[in-house]
Amino acid sequence: MRVVIVEDAEAAGRRAAEEIADLVRRKPNAVLGLATGGTPVRCYHELVRMHREEGLDFSQVHTFNLDEYLGLAPDHPQSYRYFMQSHLFQHINVPQENTHLPDGLTKDVDATCQQYEEQIRSAGGIDIQLLGIGSDGHIAFNEPGSSLASRTRLKSLTAETIRDNARFFGSEADVPQLAITTGVGTILESRVCLMLATGQQKATAVREAIEGAVSARVTASALQLHPQSIAVLDEAAAAELDFADYYRRAEQLRESLRGAS
Ligand code: GLP
Repeated sequence: MRVVIVEDAEAAGRRAAEEIADLVRRKPNAVLGLATGGTPVRCYHELVRMHREEGLDFSQVHTFNLDEYLGLAPDHPQSYRYFMQSHLFQHINVPQENTHLPDGLTKDVDATCQQYEEQIRSAGGIDIQLLGIGSDGHIAFNEPGSSLASRTRLKSLTAETIRDNARFFGSEADVPQLAITTGVGTILESRVCLMLATGQQKATAVREAIEGAVSARVTASALQLHPQSIAVLDEAAAAELDFADYYRRAEQLRESLRGAS
């Protein structure tokens, strides 16, 4: 896994946005895999800025989000659809019909999950998948114990995730216990995986994901199996990495090679 360590959360968000913007410039009809949570907010704000100030064009882009809470309507302020509308979609020129999230109000979960996989496939697959990481090491809502070959399906959230996400809802009792999530297998089929992690509260999960054993215990560790995965970390999230100095040096070498060519 390529590990990029930057100074702070602001710089991490900018770095992730640059990766996405580079892709959209090279491939205007790119398929973006998007994530929710506190971490990607800065990345989305930077993409909005690039759209407004630099004319970054999303008119042919398609998006697929990782997950959605079961039982929340799209206009529920804590639904992931609402999050995406307010942080990104309503501020850029992506056509609404090109934006996809699992339907949290579905009456037929299995059909919805299958259909979501088919929609990703028929869009040509995901070019870049943006990911956060849960404090228990999960990606999307692939909680510990999830199959590393899993596909889109219904998952129960762990007590730790419910506790973590209660900050958005006001109380733990209000956090849905179930969510529809793309699987680890679905995520690994993306052409590039970009994991963004910031803050000291993510440092242990980040170490386990990047330098620990590949294990269903920490589903983000499956990214080690992906040939094109990048972790963008701030100093606080990188604090427990054994090989942080090595990653920094490798990035400097990469930069100097780029400068020389
Ligand atoms: C939720 C989401 C994940 C996200 C995680 C961490 O569980 N399903 O996709 O990575 O929260 O969120 P935060 O960035 O708020 O720490």
